[in-house]
Amino acid sequence: MPSASLTTVAILLLLLISTTATTSEESESESEDECRDRWIHIRDLPTRFNLDLLTNCSQYPVFDNFCPHLFHHGLGHKTHNSSHSWYRTDPFMLELIFHRRMLEYPCLTSDPNLANAIYIPYYAGLDSLKYLFGPQLNSSFLHGLDLFHYLAAAAHPHIWKKNLGHDHFLVMARPAWDFTQPLSNDPPIFGTSFLELPQFFNVTALTLESRAYPWQEQAIPYPTSFHPPNLPFLESWLNRVKKTRRSTLMLFAGGGGMSANPNVRRSIRLECESHNNNSNSNVSWGYEKMCEFVDCSNGICEHDPIKFMRPMLQSSFCLQPPGDTPTRRSTFDAIVAGCIPVFFEEMSAKRQYGWHLPEKEYDEFSVFIRKEDVVFKGVKIMDVLMRIPRGEVRRMREKVIEYLMPRIMYRKHGSSLGLRNKKDAFDIAIDGTLLRIKSRIQDLEAQRLE
Ligand SMILES: *[C@@H]1O[C@H](CO)[C@@H](O)[C@H](O)[C@H]1NC(C)=O
Ligand SMILES: *[C@@H]1O[C@H](CO)[C@@H](O)[C@H](O)[C@H]1NC(C)=O
Ligand SMILES: *[C@@H]1O[C@H](CO)[C@@H](O)[C@H](O)[C@H]1NC(C)=O
Ligand SMILES: *[C@@H]1O[C@H](CO)[C@@H](O)[C@H](O)[C@H]1NC(C)=O
Ligand SMILES: *[C@@H]1O[C@H](CO)[C@@H](O)[C@H](O)[C@H]1NC(C)=O
Ligand SMILES: *[C@@H]1O[C@H](CO)[C@@H](O)[C@H](O)[C@H]1NC(C)=O
Repeated sequence: MPSASLTTVAILLLLLISTTATTSEESESESEDECRDRWIHIRDLPTRFNLDLLTNCSQYPVFDNFCPHLFHHGLGHKTHNSSHSWYRTDPFMLELIFHRRMLEYPCLTSDPNLANAIYIPYYAGLDSLKYLFGPQLNSSFLHGLDLFHYLAAAAHPHIWKKNLGHDHFLVMARPAWDFTQPLSNDPPIFGTSFLELPQFFNVTALTLESRAYPWQEQAIPYPTSFHPPNLPFLESWLNRVKKTRRSTLMLFAGGGGMSANPNVRRSIRLECESHNNNSNSNVSWGYEKMCEFVDCSNGICEHDPIKFMRPMLQSSFCLQPPGDTPTRRSTFDAIVAGCIPVFFEEMSAKRQYGWHLPEKEYDEFSVFIRKEDVVFKGVKIMDVLMRIPRGEVRRMREKVIEYLMPRIMYRKHGSSLGLRNKKDAFDIAIDGTLLRIKSRIQDLEAQRLE
């Protein structure tokens, strides 16, 4: 439906433009103190780097027709007409969501010389589709070169030169693996080489998942479907999550695990099935069910949060096994539901989301069971979880609800002041980016003195 997508884009354009105008006025009046060391300049980019990419939203059938996901600045359609906080959000739309939030950031400056950091409003993941799934499969090493040329050499070379790109950042709403194909692979296997290009070594990239030894990138939370517009909506959800009875011990929502090869998803499926098949199985501690398996294969849950949010709300623990890549959006859905995450490898979260999920506190909000122990040593996940004292389960859940949940959700753009005073995933990503860029610039200045 090209006409529908064009209408969407037209609406987006109008909203983006009108917001830019009002926020820049607002920021002039922002107190100097509040914005000290926090000024951000948004680079002016031709629309081919962002809005134009949305017009082709129906042209990547292998990926998805992503036109419906563009609504509400990338939050997608509401789950119901009467819903205020719940959307059918596609996590790959984070580039749009972030851009929209950037436009209402209180410390924007139009003068790049005053800026502590420079945001590149480039929809990197959307632009990569033509290399990942489209006609330019065999030229994926080109991804980013046009952008670099514009940033460093076009109209305003001094903006780049001032800090050689160390102060620039962008969002790439896919796992970093999709952008790290070695330049020497010819023909390319999968992925573009954006993060392999020396041109971008100095730029900070916010991705949904980082590599084991990341250089440019930092992982930030996958967007969930929950985007409250004000404090009362957040608080009423928090109360609901706190009060729900957890009648299931553990839940897995996802696909995979059907192959005969040993892997952790398969072990989970077998453990769950054999327990539920056996009518003599123990049901303890007031749980009505020990294990629930929500089948989300073939992406059927992706834009339908009701399918998994309800069961997650009723479960104490949510299993987060690695799949094609180590991280999962489901980790964040579960946190929103107050369901304690169970991880099977450190790459699933601990070595990824350091800004949002503090590394030193993992024992206080999650359970770790090595996947090798489950797959090869016969460790039963249920046994491990049942051994955790109830008081401790309660404390972990409180930490997930009170501390993690507000930090990992992306509130709705334009939300009211009360909610804006609480730091959400976007605010924490900006704090982390500003600190990182500050230290990069200090290093650069030290280099220049030598
Ligand atoms: C959109 O698709 C058309 C036709 O496939 C192509 O010519 C055009 O360059 C694409 N636009 C963008 C911004 O990728
Ligand atoms: C939701 O609202 C739209 C526009 O107001 C309307 O066309 C549609 O029928 C409504 N859907 C439902 C399920 O009520
Ligand atoms: C890419 O290159 C491979 C091998 O050279 C070729 O088989 C394939 O058709 C090419 N794909 C496209 C989209 O050009
Ligand atoms: C990145 O920064 C280093 C110094 O830290 C500099 O030598 C290099 O030229 C910069 N790269 C680009 C593409 O500007
Ligand atoms: C559980 O029961 C179903 C249906 O009777 C059967 O197909 C499956 O193999 C059983 N699974 C296990 C692990 O016993
Ligand atoms: C149920 O669990 C308890 C404690 O874990 C154990 O002592 C008991 O033997 C189990 N009963 C059955 C029927 O498996």
